[in-house]
Amino acid sequence: MTSRTESGLPIEPVYGPQHRSGRPEDERLGEPGGYPFTRGVYPTMYTGRPWTMRQYAGFGTAEESNRRYHQLVQAGTGGLSVAFDLPTQMGFDSDATVASGEVGKVGVAIDSLDDMERLFDGIPLSDVSTSMTINAPAALLLLLYQLVGAEQGVRGDQLTGTVQNDVLKEYVARGTYIYPPAESLRLTSDIFGYCRAELPRWNTISISGYHMAEAGATPAQEVAFTLANAREYVRAALSAGLAVDEFAPRLSFFFVARTTLLEEVAKFRAARRIWAQVMREEFGAADPKSQMLRFHTQTAGVQLTAQQPEVNMVRVAVQALSAVLGGTQSLHTNSYDEAIALPTEKAARLALRTQQVLAYETDVARTVDPFAGSYAVESLTDEIEGAIRQLMDRVEEMGGAVAGIERGFQKTEIEKSAYAVATEIDTGERTVVGVNAYTDDGDEPYEPLRVDPAIERGQTDRLAALRSGRDSDAVERSLDALRAAASGTDNVLYPMRDALAARATVGEVCTALRDVWGVYTPPTGV
Ligand code: 3HC
Repeated sequence: MTSRTESGLPIEPVYGPQHRSGRPEDERLGEPGGYPFTRGVYPTMYTGRPWTMRQYAGFGTAEESNRRYHQLVQAGTGGLSVAFDLPTQMGFDSDATVASGEVGKVGVAIDSLDDMERLFDGIPLSDVSTSMTINAPAALLLLLYQLVGAEQGVRGDQLTGTVQNDVLKEYVARGTYIYPPAESLRLTSDIFGYCRAELPRWNTISISGYHMAEAGATPAQEVAFTLANAREYVRAALSAGLAVDEFAPRLSFFFVARTTLLEEVAKFRAARRIWAQVMREEFGAADPKSQMLRFHTQTAGVQLTAQQPEVNMVRVAVQALSAVLGGTQSLHTNSYDEAIALPTEKAARLALRTQQVLAYETDVARTVDPFAGSYAVESLTDEIEGAIRQLMDRVEEMGGAVAGIERGFQKTEIEKSAYAVATEIDTGERTVVGVNAYTDDGDEPYEPLRVDPAIERGQTDRLAALRSGRDSDAVERSLDALRAAASGTDNVLYPMRDALAARATVGEVCTALRDVWGVYTPPTGV
């Protein structure tokens, strides 16, 4: 058994709420829905409205994903969460050479407005909030969503949802970036400005720690590197001329929920407290909504095991509980079979049922911040807050998140943590049930869901039909206008919307920006 928390902090017996921070009570705890939001962002939290049960889904063609969304809505999910395939995430069309073998694999293939119409066929966009896990081409998918909404007669100010739009973490983990950091930050700021004017209820970014956690970051690293990225986005928006209270209320975050429940609850509470202070004291945010750290949580995929997969149901339930006790606004629970393959429909439904049991059969949603005043959790909150602040200061000393990324600092620190955990598992110091302990399992082998390779051909045929049926001159003119805007300082989302409406494809629009901005190449040797 390790004698330290996941963040590497010593596990000491706790004899009372030691106020290590030295700050007065109201600067550390406050009331639920009040500064510094340690106890939650809303006064009533789940007693006012349960968290959003938002299951990440998407694979194959737009039609197949559309069917899964209808199933999830019928099963009671409160919000949609779209997964896109890698070609879409990287701004390539399904018929691009580089896309071969990846079309429809880890998410849905979206090449054009036609595909987006199929994806949301029969789903009233005025009635759902939709998260889209898309980063480098986030602007395009946001605009395609708005265009489909407009075709349904839904105004921009009626659309609610989130684009992940967090490219900085892609340089650190996951890797679905396209453009260099400066151009990526410009595109992010353009989205902030566009949504302020056209889509005021849209959450413009989901600043993510999840993928860094999945790459091996400790809880303290997860939060510190996420908040460092968040600082970079705020600075970019300010230097683009936006006022902090104009865009900050629509920033959102995305974290993991690990099985180490007490530390995770402390992590979420510390993150809210730190961000509230950064926004009020460093950026002068006056609007309480600018100071609130609202976040989505996904249970830890990296902690799922392929061995004895049913045991993952227990892990996911505990992880979901840590997110709820930690005050999440939106939650995705992993399916027990995801360490093996894409989730089956049955496993995906069970994952959602896990949330429904927590929300409606337990009593954890009937009070606000149940751990408030707990000796263990309050002192853990102080401890992890200190560790997070130390790391944030180190990144600041380097010149901020982008400077750290270009030195490979965050990536290297996360790799060290991942190596330490792998070593603990190998030596048995860290128990993983079914993997290095309690490995007896007499079950028959599991039959995974498989994605039909015919999807790629179908998507390629649809693209050919789209290209032959559109006004190619109008498409070229709109792409030239986009290149001109990208070369200047105008908000690129307006010419981008025109190009997409003319049925320019995702690949064509992203390549038009590649022509002007180039693509990012990571520093060698990190
Ligand atoms: N009292 C008063 N009002 C309340 C309330 C309460 N107790 N609870 C909720 N509300 C209000 C809110 O103010 C909000 O109103 P508004 O829209 O006018 O602001 C409304 O009810 C909805 O509440 P939330 O905004 O808290 O909940 P949402 O679910 O709408 O939004 C979010 C949550 C975190 C802010 C948002 O950004 C979101 O949904 N994020 C999801 C991101 C996501 O799903 N990402 C998936 C990533 S998967 C991935 O990356 C790949 C994989 O490999 C990991």
